[in-house]
Amino acid sequence: MVTYISHSPEETRRLGRWLGARLAPGDFVALVGDLGAGKTHLSGGVLEGLGVERTGGSPTFTLLWEYQARLPVYHWDVYRLCSPDDLEDLGYEEYFYGNGVNLVEWADRVETLWPDDHLRIDLRYGEGDEDRVLTFRGAPRHAQLLEELQHADFSA
Ligand SMILES: Nc1ncnc2c1ncn2[C@@H]1O[C@H](COP(=O)(O)OP(=O)(O)OP(=O)(O)O)[C@@H](O)[C@H]1O
Ligand SMILES: [Mg+2]
Repeated sequence: MVTYISHSPEETRRLGRWLGARLAPGDFVALVGDLGAGKTHLSGGVLEGLGVERTGGSPTFTLLWEYQARLPVYHWDVYRLCSPDDLEDLGYEEYFYGNGVNLVEWADRVETLWPDDHLRIDLRYGEGDEDRVLTFRGAPRHAQLLEELQHADFSA
C-alpha cells in the first residue's frame, strides 16, 4: 500500500495525469471516497494523462462516459446506482473485462463486480481543508507503478 497526501486540487489533478499516462489496456481503477473527497478531480487528471479529449466523449448511460484515446476509456460514476445488479443489467462485463481502461467513481458500490486485478485508490479528508489522503493498493501488475509513486512529488 502506498499513501500520498495531496495538498491542493491541482496536486491531485497532477497525480491523476501522471497515473493516466501509465495506465495500460485492461487496467481497472477503483476510486473510493466520500462526497468531495476528490474522486472527480483525480479522474479529470487521469483522463488527461490518457490523452482523452473531454469534448469527444459520449454518455453511453448516465453513469458511464466512454472515450477513445490511446486506449478505450470507460469513466463510471455509479453513485446513483442502487445495487450491483443494475450494472449487471447493463452488461458491465464487456467493459470491466475488455481491453480498455476503467475508471470507477464510488467503486465500493459495485465491489462484488471488480476484476481480481485492480488498482484501488481510497481518498479521504486530511487535516487541512485542502489535504486529501490517497492510498493506493494494486495487483502485482501495478508493483512498478506503486514503487514509483512512493518517491513521486506532484506538489509543483
Ligand atoms: N487536495 C485536494 N484534492 C482534490 N480536491 C480538493 C483538494 N482540496 C480541496 N479539494 C476540493 O474538494 C472538492 C473535490 O471535489 P470532487 O468533485 O473531485 O470530489 P468527489 O469525490 O468526486 O465528490 P462527489 O462524490 O461528490 O462527486 C473540490 O471542491 C475541490 O476543489
Ligand atoms: Mg465526483
